[in-house]
Amino acid sequence: MAHQAHPFRSVLYIPGSKERALEKAQGLAADAIIFDLEDAVAHDEKIHARDLLRKTLETADYGRRIRIVRVNGMDTEWGRDDVAAFAGSKADVILIPKVSSAAHVQAVADLIPDVPLWAMMETALGMLNAAEIAAHPRLTGMVMGTNDLAKELTSRFRPDRLALQTGLGLCLLAARAHGLTIVDGVYNAFKDEDGLRAECEQGRDMGFDGKTLIHPAQLEIANEVFSPSSAEIELANRQIAAFEEAERHGQGVAVVDGKIVENLHIVTARQTLAKAEAIAAFGAS
Ligand code: COA
Ligand code: MG
Repeated sequence: MAHQAHPFRSVLYIPGSKERALEKAQGLAADAIIFDLEDAVAHDEKIHARDLLRKTLETADYGRRIRIVRVNGMDTEWGRDDVAAFAGSKADVILIPKVSSAAHVQAVADLIPDVPLWAMMETALGMLNAAEIAAHPRLTGMVMGTNDLAKELTSRFRPDRLALQTGLGLCLLAARAHGLTIVDGVYNAFKDEDGLRAECEQGRDMGFDGKTLIHPAQLEIANEVFSPSSAEIELANRQIAAFEEAERHGQGVAVVDGKIVENLHIVTARQTLAKAEAIAAFGAS
């Protein structure tokens, strides 16, 4: 699995045309950055954004933040040239918009060898084909495009995201079945901290690795919500210790805080500790 030891709590979009934001991002607390050439860039800025981004990736220092370039769709006049422009570049990942089938992934795979590909999951057909998309051998991650999905479904915004839950769940199932990274969609009201926190918690509890963000003000909350808390780390350590103690006595189960602890809980406990270690290692770099 690609980038397994890397956290993806906060994945910040930056329009490829915005020089100031590209500059600023070198010092922002994002685990990964999506450099966007698609919907955040106006039609008459497309070529300029591609050139600016290519030069910026050569010269700017984004440290260990994963560099994801979102290209335009292969059905647009810019898509193929976008992909070609980032072959052999410092882009860690190419993110393909509006993926509705495995054939869409293959079309980009044919243009660029070696670079891992991620898919924007944001069309109705993409939700229905999530399993075949996730199974594509070049795909290592998925990003929920909840604004586009809501538009296609003609659904309304609700704090509980009722209308999106089927799609979120299908993509999560597909991503986990194939060992992919998967990050949740954006929260548009970037000044509403309580709303953002609630949506981050919902995505975290469902199983997403992190959240895509549109503004630096959203970084801190996403990083906090998607990090294991000190209480969770402490519990994981106690579960592992209790289970190992039980095993020494020839038993397959332990009890911690009145709850049963079996082998499968130890898998989760070890994942929690591994995630905390990956975050610490990333922060120390
Ligand atoms: N990444 C990095 N820096 C960003 C940023 C981003 N996504 N959004 C804003 N900033 C920077 C600004 O450059 C500004 O920096 P400065 O004060 O040091 O000059 C600072 O953060 C404050 O910005 P602010 O004035 O509050 O925001 P804005 O009005 O300039 O922009 C948005 C608001 C929503 C237009 C902008 O955040 C944005 O373009 N977000 C990304 C949208 C996107 O990519 N969408 C596609 C996927 S949904
Ligand atoms: Mg979209």
